[in-house]
Amino acid sequence: MIWRATVVTLFPEMFPGPLGGSLAGKALSAGRWSLETRDIRAAGRGAHRSVDDTPFGGGAGMVMRPDVVDAAIGPDDDRPLVYLTPRGQPFTQRHAQRLAVASGVVLLCGRYEGVDQRVIEARQVEEVSIGDYVLSGGELPALVLLDACVRLLPGVMGAAGSADEESFSGNLLEYPHYTRPAEWQGRAVPPVLLSGNHAAIAAWRRSRAEEVTRQRRPDLLRAPIATAAAGP
Ligand code: 6GU
Repeated sequence: MIWRATVVTLFPEMFPGPLGGSLAGKALSAGRWSLETRDIRAAGRGAHRSVDDTPFGGGAGMVMRPDVVDAAIGPDDDRPLVYLTPRGQPFTQRHAQRLAVASGVVLLCGRYEGVDQRVIEARQVEEVSIGDYVLSGGELPALVLLDACVRLLPGVMGAAGSADEESFSGNLLEYPHYTRPAEWQGRAVPPVLLSGNHAAIAAWRRSRAEEVTRQRRPDLLRAPIATAAAGP
């Protein structure tokens, strides 16, 4: 069976969006995964297909109704159900690896102030954020999550095994890359890369990866190594 993504959203026209022209879009056309959108508006109540209401307890904004969101999600299946929200757990490569080996994913995109807490609890929804900033809805985060997962599916990445060496796979940022010309605007490529000494090249790359990680993301050096087996 192919990997199935379902996106529950008020803006189905945002999908596949930028993914359509990318590696993920080519894999979609090639049938390596499927993408279905479910329009939350279609489950709205009344003549105006209302999906939200004012928050109990007062305050700004509107909250998406639990009955509407529940109906829009549809029946349970074996796929993880993920709600994109800035109050979720930080999305990591580990999440992407876990979701990529599942049968697919159901993504719930919130708008307004959020979704009634009861439907999140009743449907065992996992809440995930893509970073410490606020976006106007979960649709762009859903596209980010899909790209991160789809590129891990078998046969999607061009160069076999290149997913193993990249940033975050071993809790290190990537080493710097160089190609021709060997000298450009007075800048030479590090000589070790032209040496043909594969052990020396590997050691140099490791050391550069550790250096950039120490400078930019020292928190990664203290974290457990990111593998699918290690948890969420
Ligand atoms: Cl998942 N949703 C929204 N609305 N804003 C975000 C986010 C998600 N992750 C970071 N900012």
